[in-house]
Formats: sequence, structure tokens, C-alpha cells
Amino acid sequence: MSITSSLAWKNLVSHCQSGMGKESLLNLINMPNRMEEFSIEIGGLYVDFSKNRINGATVELLERLAKEKELAVWIKKLFTGEKLNHTENRAALHTALRSTSTTQNHFEQKIQDDVNEQFSRMEKIVNKIRDGHWRGATGKTIKDIVNIGVGGSDLGPLMITHALQAFKSPVKLHFLSSIDGTQTSNLLKQLDQETTLFILSSKSFTTIDTLSNAETALSWFKKKLRSNIYAQHFIGISTNSEKMAEWGIPKQNQLLFWDWVGGRYSMWSTIGLSIALKLGMEGFRGFLAGAGEMDEHFANTEFKKNIPVMLALIDIWNINFLDIEAKAILPYDARLKYLPAYLSQLVMESNGKSVDRQGNKVDYRTCPILWGEIGSNAQHAFYQLLHQGTQKVMSDFIAIVERDDFNSQLEEEVEQSLSEQQSLTLANCFAQSRVLMLGNEAIPKEMRPKFDDPFKDYAGNKSSNTILLDNISPKSLGKLIALYEHKTFVEAVIWDINPFDQWGVELGKLIAEETRKALAGDIELSGLDCSTQALIKRIKQ
Ligand code: F6P
Repeated sequence: MSITSSLAWKNLVSHCQSGMGKESLLNLINMPNRMEEFSIEIGGLYVDFSKNRINGATVELLERLAKEKELAVWIKKLFTGEKLNHTENRAALHTALRSTSTTQNHFEQKIQDDVNEQFSRMEKIVNKIRDGHWRGATGKTIKDIVNIGVGGSDLGPLMITHALQAFKSPVKLHFLSSIDGTQTSNLLKQLDQETTLFILSSKSFTTIDTLSNAETALSWFKKKLRSNIYAQHFIGISTNSEKMAEWGIPKQNQLLFWDWVGGRYSMWSTIGLSIALKLGMEGFRGFLAGAGEMDEHFANTEFKKNIPVMLALIDIWNINFLDIEAKAILPYDARLKYLPAYLSQLVMESNGKSVDRQGNKVDYRTCPILWGEIGSNAQHAFYQLLHQGTQKVMSDFIAIVERDDFNSQLEEEVEQSLSEQQSLTLANCFAQSRVLMLGNEAIPKEMRPKFDDPFKDYAGNKSSNTILLDNISPKSLGKLIALYEHKTFVEAVIWDINPFDQWGVELGKLIAEETRKALAGDIELSGLDCSTQALIKRIKQ
């Protein structure tokens, strides 16, 4: 039965149609006790969801929807390792990678033992490299680490190591992901074979992007080194030990994870090696602990005070009842520059589905288009659309309360102006969500135009959340990312879709292989469409 025929859904439809759909934020934001009701804080993470077109009744009805979909049962299934990824017959136990004293009792001990074993192997490798004891084929210590991976084997580690750039590490981290060779050629020009180590990160160890970059790296090594290239310059991280060994990665250089870790949920696993090399294993464990705190909050908190649940239910209201089909991720801190790209995969690869868990076409909207940019830069890029466009967009503003990383000698000399920049950033973040909400009403009375100017009209009434982190630390980032993982999961429960498979990406890879053969002249062009034929002919000319 489609959720749209459920009583809770019908009540939300009438709630929307009987006025709430037209109720303006201008009125709602002035309701008494609004902030008490529509903000939640847990340990240095504050979420303000008051700038959404909801009131107490909306939340009640959304809660009933969650109860009707047995959300509490699904949350328990997630943590106990039920095979929620039913199309691949797998569990989704990324929470086991960051288990806490309470959450670890939910799943079988063997899982915990396997995780502990791989993490202790990872710790040995991290310490050996960071202490300079890992030597290259010519006996030199490693200076540069290159993670080759794509999607979940790249975006998370890239985002976290960039965000925690203040951490001093004895090794420099680089990330190679794109297939075209640009990143690879640019990077290899700067590196020295004798002091460079490659991490081949790939859950399947069959992804052509990663394997082609790995082959290029291997040929680069062979230009200068004669022996021990694999043993001293390659580490592999995968669920597929045999394929890593086939490629040439010796067992002692292999770190493993499991099929119950989804690719886009995998940076908490050994895929997080580059994060641990940046932060040290202790820092990596702090990252895990932050996520563990959010897991406990998510698993044990009543829905009204449950951050992932509330943010998910409000977005169900925004998407399925207010017809908003796009979400902008706007971090007001350049250290979070890769957060939008990471969330694009986490959210759209999880919930970009149009078939429910039973295999029926859904008759309601699911995942919105999600994109983003550093907020203050986006103000000079796409905010025009946010303020005066025809598309309905909701936004997540993310900002950092205090900068505690302006502490190098150079920065002390300009610390005053840097801290002024920080307050300017926060002012912009808060101003933008205010203007999106109030529109023309945000204009100070003395500056109100004498007459309506259609070109300068701000409609306002645009929904947003603001998430404030006290600071950027392994723990605060762990909490933030786990928040979005669980929000994505709750949305999938309400939409009755499987957020843990990604069948939609397989056909492209298959056809790419066919097209590659056509480009190489290994198959007849006549079997292809006229556009593909013309494109290939043009390349061949
Ligand atoms: O593009 C689909 C996908 O399978 C993602 O889900 C995954 O994160 C990425 O490709 C890389 O896959 P792998 O880690 O197996 O190389």
C-alpha cells in the first residue's frame, strides 16, 4: 500500500490544504516559544529548524506519519544489522564501525571482533608511516600519500582531511579520483617515486576509474624503481582480498572491510586510512566517537527532540507537501568546501530512487536535487536564483561558532583581521537565511522603497535550517556526518525505499565499456545511435 493512501499522509494533505500550505514564515517565526520548540542541541552541535513553514500541529502529524511507518522498528533494525539492503541481501552496519558501549550490544560479537582486528592492523600501518618507519624501495621515509579512489572511496576522506587541515601530519595527503588523467598527471609531476605511497581504495576493486589511475601510478613507479614497488609503495583497501592480491597488493599491505558497509557509508571503516594518516589513529577514533554520539542520540531520543528524525520529517513536509524539489548545502567555512559534494553522493545515491521496497513505482516525490557551495561564495554565484528564481529551493546553512585554528605565527600578526572575517562570515550566514525567510520585510523600515519595484522584489517565505558547530574537530565532524546519514535513512523509511543499493549506476559503467570498444575500433559503429556514431567519428578524425 502506497504511503499516500495512509491516514497520516491524508491528514498532512488536509493540514497543508486547509491553510498551512499558505501560512507564511513571517507569521510563523513570531509564534511564542518558537525557538524552544524548533531547535535542538547536543554536545556542541546546535540545529535551528525554526525557519521552516511548520507549526506544532505539522510536527504532530509528521510524527504520526513516522509512527505509521514504524520508524522506531526500522531504527532498531539498522543498529542490529538486519539485511535492510534487501536487493543485495546485505545489512547496513556502518554504525558498528563507530560502536559505543550501548550501540555495540545490538549486533553480533563477531562483527565487533572483525572491526577491531582491522582497526588494529590499520593502527600499526598508521603509526609505522607517521613515525617514518615505513620505508620506500630505496630506503627513504614516505613523505607523500596518494589515495586513489572514487565516490565513497574518495569523497569522505577528502572532505574530512581538508576540513581538519589544521592538524599537522608528517605526511602530505593527496587524492586522485577522476578518470581523465588530469589530476594524475598534475600530481605525479610534483612527486618523487622514492618517497610516495599509494593507497588503492575500492570496495569492489573493479572500478575502472580507480584501476586505471592505479595502472598509471604503477607505470610511473617502474620508470624509476626496479623492485619492491608493491610491497613498499602500495596499500590496498577493499572487501575483495583476492582481487587486491591479483593486482599485486601483498596481504600484509591489505586492509579489509565488509559488504555490510555501503560505499558512501565507508569512511568510518579502513577506507578512512587517509583520515587516520592525517589525524593520527587517536584523532580518527575521535571522529568515530563523534559519530557514535550521534548514533546514541538517534537511537535513544524521542522523535520531537531527535535531530536526524526532525530534519528528515521536515524535509518530507517540504518535498511532498510544499513541493520543494531542491536543497542547497551552504557551509559558511571553506574548510567544509567538500561537504556539498560528499552529501550529493550520500543523499542522492541513497534516495534517488523511484521504486519502493516492494518493487512498485512510487506515486510521490523522493530525493530532491542536492548541491551546494561555500555559502559566502555561493552568494556571488547562485543566490540570485534562491532569492528571486521560480524554483522552490530549501537550504541547509552550516556555520562554525569559533575559529581556533588561526594560531600560526603568520596568522597572529593578522589575527585581528582574520577574526573579523569570521564574524563577517557568520553575519552573512544569518543574514541570508533571514532574507530568504522574510523577503522584503527584512529591509529596514527607513530603507523601504517608496513604491514597489518588481525587479527588486524579495518574495521571501523560503525554508532553511541552520546548523552551528562550536568548532571543527574530529568529533564535531563525526557528529555532523552521522546526522546526515541518519536523516537520509529516516527519509528512506518514510518513502519506503532502499537507501543502501545503487543499481542506477551500473548500466552506465556497462555501456562505457561498449563505447570504449567502439572508440578503439573493436566493434562496429553501425549498431550505435546516430549521435554516438557522430561523436566517435569526430574523435577518430
Ligand atoms: O558509482 C557507484 C559506486 O559503486 C559508489 O557507490 C562507490 O562509492 C563508488 O562507485 C566506488 O566504488 P568502489 O569503492 O567499489 O571502487
